[in-house]
Amino acid sequence: MTITAGVVGNPIAHSLSPAIHNAWIAAAGLDAEYHPFLSPLDGFAGFVSELRTKGVRGVNVTIPFKQEALALAGRAGDLARMAGAANLLVFENGEIRADNTDGPGLLAALGVQGFQPTDGPAVILGAGGAARGAAAALVLAGSPQVRIVNRTRERAQALAASLGEKARDYDRAEDAFGGAAVIINATSLGLGGGEGPTAPFECAPGSAVVMDMVYKPLVTDFLDRAAEAGHPTVDGLEMLIGQARPSFEAFFGHPPPAEVDARAVALAALEAMA
Ligand code: ATR
Repeated sequence: MTITAGVVGNPIAHSLSPAIHNAWIAAAGLDAEYHPFLSPLDGFAGFVSELRTKGVRGVNVTIPFKQEALALAGRAGDLARMAGAANLLVFENGEIRADNTDGPGLLAALGVQGFQPTDGPAVILGAGGAARGAAAALVLAGSPQVRIVNRTRERAQALAASLGEKARDYDRAEDAFGGAAVIINATSLGLGGGEGPTAPFECAPGSAVVMDMVYKPLVTDFLDRAAEAGHPTVDGLEMLIGQARPSFEAFFGHPPPAEVDARAVALAALEAMA
């Protein structure tokens, strides 16, 4: 029987996940399908319930439903609970299991530049949902300190407080960047080609890995400035692919075939949408 999975969001037409998963399905020769699913903004729970009735195996969840997805689950992984959000729902034995693979995706992406969470302090710019997920993943993976910088200081304080003693908020990016091993943009600044967040790269060690969670454009203003300052960089597409891998295994019980160049697939889909 065909195994069906997909990604639920609103909007959803821009999602690159179907291209990535379907390329893996084809290469693995699986009897499976992965679809984009557009959920009504005010009807996510009902929409998911319908998908379950139809026999869908599970779904990835994207903007703006990641928090609601966690709330629907009977069981949730540690990271999903700590991040307060889930991007993966698997329906099994009459139960909904929630997980967060954005965190592992982030760490896998940073690993491409040799970064390990234990390398040193991490700086996160932003305090919204994306920042919370990144911060929780780093804390759970053993980061010695996660430093949160945000335009609205109260949100940075609240996020740091909720993550425990390994996290703290900083008022000034200049102070947070000192001695950092990694610097991550988790704000929405730079999306669509605009200016990125304030980033005094001269205050950070040259070895600090700089990553942007925004991947449209692929080389954001933030990454452009980081590269100019001599930092190794990681783009948001690596994280997208990184979160897709464990999701694929959870749906189809099969690892993504190594022979597929997922990055080339995602880039082609991105270009086709432009
Ligand atoms: P998401 O869930 O995708 O992270 P969000 O919760 O809306 O989205 O968070 C957006 C982040 O980008 C926040 O950290 C926000 O800062 P505030 O908490 O001060 O709103 C940040 N952000 C958005 N626009 C910004 C701007 N013009 N300057 C600085 N930070 C900005």
